[in-house]
Amino acid sequence: MKILMIGDIVGKGGRRALRHLVPELRRHYQCHFCVANGENMAGGNGFTKLCLQEMENSGVDVFTGGDHMWDQKDFMTEIGSLTNVLRPANLPDCQPGRGWGVFTARDGSPVAVMSLLGRTFMAAGADCPFAAAERLLPEIRQHTPVVVIDFHAEATSEKIALGRYFDGKVSAVVGTHTHVATADQQIFPGGTAFQCDLGMVGARESILGRDIAPVLSRFRTGLPARFTVNDRGPRLSGAVVTVSAAGRAEGIERVMRDLR
Ligand SMILES: [Fe+2]
Ligand SMILES: [Fe+2]
Repeated sequence: MKILMIGDIVGKGGRRALRHLVPELRRHYQCHFCVANGENMAGGNGFTKLCLQEMENSGVDVFTGGDHMWDQKDFMTEIGSLTNVLRPANLPDCQPGRGWGVFTARDGSPVAVMSLLGRTFMAAGADCPFAAAERLLPEIRQHTPVVVIDFHAEATSEKIALGRYFDGKVSAVVGTHTHVATADQQIFPGGTAFQCDLGMVGARESILGRDIAPVLSRFRTGLPARFTVNDRGPRLSGAVVTVSAAGRAEGIERVMRDLR
């Protein structure tokens, strides 16, 4: 099975790129399933039901979350009626939504997806991602051996550590959050595909999807500035992971496409 995994979708430009590029990428790579991180899809901050409805025919099967999960306050209510959105599984149990799900790929086989949040250099109040995934995996693996994790985290070390820890126990661990794709895609010895960060679906001429000038100004002056989203000239970054029926990764290839 081939699974297309995509980094953080940023704003309107990111959503437009997704709608135009994912169907073509799915065809080109003959993907059976697609996961994308949606935490910046609503104007750069969080999710809305409306944005997700706009993505209905994009070819993305599941949207994963991150530290901006609840930036849009209505989404705490809206998530209850949505079956294709995951919030990080290691957020406190009292939070709405669910952290993992089993979905059906285009070839009819089940795929489990888990969303996890890092703790190093992050302030979202998540529980230990290692412990959370370890607790959940036995139940998840009863449904299917094909399990992919989106580990939304800042530190490369934390991401590699989690990938190594679950090597042989899941099909793929891919990172999101930094908006910068890394070139370290590999298959670990136990058969888990890994990439530190998938990158983003956001403007090429930007700083992490935001307009360059206010970010520069903030760095140079230390004064507050509104980080406006740049919706022009988006690029999609992600990876295609090939997984055997037994859940073992057989390949991982980075993908990058510009919307012209
Ligand atoms: Fe992000
Ligand atoms: Fe994030």
